[in-house]
Amino acid sequence: MSLRFFLDKAKQHHLLTVISDEVDPYLEMAKIISRMEDQPLLFERVRGHHQHVAASVCGARENLALYLGVEMDQLLFILAEALAHPSTPTVVSSGPCQEVVEEQIDLDVLPILTHLPQDAGPYITAAVAVTRDPDLGRNVAFHRLLRMDRSHLVARLVEGRGTDTLLKKSPGDVEVAICIGNSLPVLVAAATSPPPGEDEFRIANALRPTSLLKCRTVNLEVPAETEIVLEGRFTGALAPEGPFLDLTGTLDIVRPGHVIEISCITHRQDTIYQALLPGGQEHKLLMGLPQEPTIYAEVSKVCHCTNVLLTPGAGTWLHGVVQIEKRGTDDGRLAIDAAFRGHPSMKHVVVVDDDIDIYDPQDVEWAIATRFQAERDLVVLGDQPSSSLDPSATHVPGEKTRTSKMGLDATIPWDRPSGEPRSQEQRQAFKRIRYDPGG
Ligand SMILES: Cc1cc2nc3c(=O)[nH]c(=O)nc-3n(C[C@H](O)[C@H](O)[C@H](O)COP(=O)(O)O)c2cc1C
Repeated sequence: MSLRFFLDKAKQHHLLTVISDEVDPYLEMAKIISRMEDQPLLFERVRGHHQHVAASVCGARENLALYLGVEMDQLLFILAEALAHPSTPTVVSSGPCQEVVEEQIDLDVLPILTHLPQDAGPYITAAVAVTRDPDLGRNVAFHRLLRMDRSHLVARLVEGRGTDTLLKKSPGDVEVAICIGNSLPVLVAAATSPPPGEDEFRIANALRPTSLLKCRTVNLEVPAETEIVLEGRFTGALAPEGPFLDLTGTLDIVRPGHVIEISCITHRQDTIYQALLPGGQEHKLLMGLPQEPTIYAEVSKVCHCTNVLLTPGAGTWLHGVVQIEKRGTDDGRLAIDAAFRGHPSMKHVVVVDDDIDIYDPQDVEWAIATRFQAERDLVVLGDQPSSSLDPSATHVPGEKTRTSKMGLDATIPWDRPSGEPRSQEQRQAFKRIRYDPGG
């Protein structure tokens, strides 16, 4: 399964916009991608480069569902199934990603976008990095990569995650394979954080068959249908990384990043380079989507959870809505605590009943307006570990970011303010009355 398969699907469904005018990867392309509101794009003429560039392939939840052949509200469940039952990919002996082996190492052959004048330089943003931990096995994760020179990149590694943990315990060089131009299952799987020791390619393979191919100069495997593979190693050196526009739409700070030296570049014939707009809907969706099943799993331990959504207004990362079929008075509160356990970066969560459409912000607001009493239904948790992406949180270098958190139980209150229980019939008074939609 390849990026091309999904581009073809987008074309079949008249979702793909093909841009045949020449476009500059320096600032102009990012401007166009942001203007097109995350619809799938294919740039056919890129200034200074012969490759095509695909962007915003999965910028909308609806498109992702369409490509995977499921209803939008089923995305959570197919991902949960893949996380629960990963399957080992086949290893093949040859594949399209090695159709061409570049003779020289020159990253400037790639149409790497510079997104904003404030950015530190050109950034590869849709790259999935493959490493092997001696104790835990393969790790696959997104890492944004700043072009340093023709053969070096600087990677942003979030502290405490797979790649960072590997580098901290490895005294020498660490081999890496960087995949650019990936299938949607690979993109989604790379964004998950499964338990240590689980291989994200097994999750991708459970979503759709994803055969692997051994790299040429490093002892790692990559999806055989990847468009471009950069083989190399983390050298142990650090170099400044940032500024860079992050998920929240604010500029991330300059930090020491990890230097990668590239030793081999392979790619498909007629390569399609993949771009991902920093802070765009695709970035947000890929970040948030894999967290929804983990929230669902935690909430399901304490009550009957029916759906979960991380909302785009908060980067599909910091705010969530949890839908439950309430079966006990305290289910809303129990769901709040469990949801924070399921996604520790979440800052605010609203719990609603199953008559509320979690994809409609107005419906969620209506539940808060008509079912929620702050004094009774608001949970505030002070000084909690949280996301490094929230500019309003407390950031101390070398320490976990801290924040206060808020949970709103906007489910129908089963008790009156006096504490006396409401009957089934009395609870019905909280239901929305709708006009007959018929003529
Ligand atoms: C579009 C996108 C960009 C990301 N960029 C980075 C990044 O630059 N650095 C990083 O450490 N994680 C980044 N992540 C998150 C990693 O993929 C995530 O941390 C990974 O799931 C961690 O898994 P691990 O603990 O198995 O390494 C990004 C995720 C997405 C979806």
